[in-house]
Amino acid sequence: MTEKSIIQVKNLSKRYDNNNQILEGIDLEIFESTFTVIMGPSGAGKSTLLQNISTMDQPTSGQVVFEAQDLTKLSDKALSRFRRKEIGFIFQSFNLIEHLSVLENVCLPGFLLKSKSKKQVIQRAKDLLTGLGLGDHANQAINHLSGGQKQRVAIARSLINQPKILFADEPTGALDSTSGIEVLDNLTLNNQNGQTIVMVTHDLKAALRADRILFIKDGQIYGDRIFTPYDASQLKARRSEVEAWLLEMGW
Ligand SMILES: Nc1ncnc2c1ncn2[C@@H]1O[C@H](COP(=O)(O)OP(=O)(O)OP(=O)(O)O)[C@@H](O)[C@H]1O
Ligand SMILES: [Mg+2]
Repeated sequence: MTEKSIIQVKNLSKRYDNNNQILEGIDLEIFESTFTVIMGPSGAGKSTLLQNISTMDQPTSGQVVFEAQDLTKLSDKALSRFRRKEIGFIFQSFNLIEHLSVLENVCLPGFLLKSKSKKQVIQRAKDLLTGLGLGDHANQAINHLSGGQKQRVAIARSLINQPKILFADEPTGALDSTSGIEVLDNLTLNNQNGQTIVMVTHDLKAALRADRILFIKDGQIYGDRIFTPYDASQLKARRSEVEAWLLEMGW
């Protein structure tokens, strides 16, 4: 595991307009090429934390520093370019554009960023789709795909601009167990190739992929534990280890 810091969260607090304090004084550092999982009870603030780290939402106070740049100080325009270039997202509900084809969905963020030619973007999209087992589906309509296939399209889309960091909020939450494992296998493979990932999940199977688990409770990081990188041949031992720790956390 490399120790290069990619994101530093400093004293981050989030309060919504209705005045409820959701996150309080969060300090957190994410390292390059790691796979961090965020767990915790429903309503604990996991999605809020992910949205605030990933620039989808603005913290009430505190800083999010990405490679020495304070993201909370960027203008809306700079922030939206930053987001498009450096950040990938995957959501539980896929968030694909139904009236575009698979290939068009994957290419869209690449066309919007405009740092590569259309031809280069299309080639990268095709390569990503092939790697995700969707090479034969490039021209298909989104609504003809299964949930697992849709989520793999969403992974391809999230990776089109080679983001430094990939955020996922319950990416297997809407999938059956087999499709969920396919999606997790793809995320694991990307992580093994160096992709930094931060994923929120309720699912123990998904959590096993992490090399670090943060447990969020009462607006704070209640637990922060490092695990060895995922190894499919050690699944049983890992499951016991992760489960025991989560139960200790009150999961
Ligand atoms: N836009 C919003 N405005 C006001 N309150 C919000 C908003 N979004 C979330 N909350 C509140 O913040 C708290 C944390 O929500 P969040 O979605 O981060 O929880 P979570 O840990 O992701 O839960 P789950 O596991 O159910 O997805 C909840 O009490 C929620 O009602
Ligand atoms: Mg959530």
